[in-house]
Amino acid sequence: MPDVDALLVVEEVAKSFGGVHAVDGASFRVPRGSLTGMIGPNGAGKSTVLSMIAGAVAPDRGSIRLDGQEIAGLPSPKTARRGVIRTFQNASVFPHMTVLENLLLGVPPWSGETVAAALFRRHRWHREEAQQVSQARNLLERLGISGMADTFAGQLSGGQKRLVEIGRAMMSRPKLLLLDEPMAGVSRTLAPVIEALIADLRNEGMTVVLIEHELALVERLCSPVVVLAQGRVLMQGEMQEARANPEVRKAYLVG
Ligand SMILES: Nc1ncnc2c1ncn2[C@@H]1O[C@H](COP(=O)(O)OP(=O)(O)O)[C@@H](O)[C@H]1O
Ligand SMILES: [Mg+2]
Repeated sequence: MPDVDALLVVEEVAKSFGGVHAVDGASFRVPRGSLTGMIGPNGAGKSTVLSMIAGAVAPDRGSIRLDGQEIAGLPSPKTARRGVIRTFQNASVFPHMTVLENLLLGVPPWSGETVAAALFRRHRWHREEAQQVSQARNLLERLGISGMADTFAGQLSGGQKRLVEIGRAMMSRPKLLLLDEPMAGVSRTLAPVIEALIADLRNEGMTVVLIEHELALVERLCSPVVVLAQGRVLMQGEMQEARANPEVRKAYLVG
C-alpha cells in the first residue's frame, strides 16, 4: 500500500528473547485515521510488535516512524509524549485507586506546568486539575460507568476494568491508540459496549491498532488488517483477502 497516508510505518523490525525470534523482520503501515487490525495465531509476535511501537521493548533492528519521525527504541514516556498510547492484553488498572483517579493517571504530565512553576501559580494548576476532573467525568459518562467514579478499580468486573483502561488511554487524546486484545476477560454483556466504543473512536478520526483473535469482530471493525505468523507479516490488506489467502489459512491451522 505505497500510496496511503501512513501515520505509522514499521520496517523490518525484529526482536529476539534469548533464542526465540518473537518478531523476525516485520513491515507494515498504519493508514492515518484507520482502525487497523492485527491478527495471527498465538505466539505470532503481535504483542511484541505493539510493545516495540509503544516503547516498552526496544527492537533489535528495524525502523518505526510516526509521522515521518523515527521512534524505534524510544522509551514509553517519550513515545507517549508523541501521542502513542497502548493498553495491555491483561487489563491493567490500579486496584487501590478509584475509577476517577485511574482515569486522571492518563493525563499527560507534560500538558500542564512543571511542579516548580505550579508552586508559583497554584491557581492555574487548580484550574487545569478541575478541567481534567471534568474531562474524566465526561469520559466515565460516555463509558457508562459514571456511577462508579469513586469505586476502587480493584472491585470492578473484567469488562469494567477494560473500560477504565481504555478511558485512561483516551484521557491523553492519543494520536495512535494501540489496543492489545481489549475483549479478553470481558463479559458478553460488555463486549458490544467496548466494540461500539472502539468503532466510535475510529469514526472520530483516531488512528487505532487493534489486536484481536475473534476474526468476525475484526471483519466488522478493521480495515486494513495485518496478518502476523512466526514473527513475520504474511499480508496486509482487507479481512476478506486474508480469509481467502492460502498462507494465512495455513498459518492459522498450524499456529
Ligand atoms: N518478554 C518475553 N520473554 C521471552 N519470550 C517472550 C517475551 N515476550 C514474548 N515472548 C515470546 O515471543 C513470542 C511471541 O509472543 P507475543 O508477542 O506475545 O505473541 P502474540 O501476542 O502474537 O501471541 C512467543 O514465543 C513468546 O513466548
Ligand atoms: Mg499477545
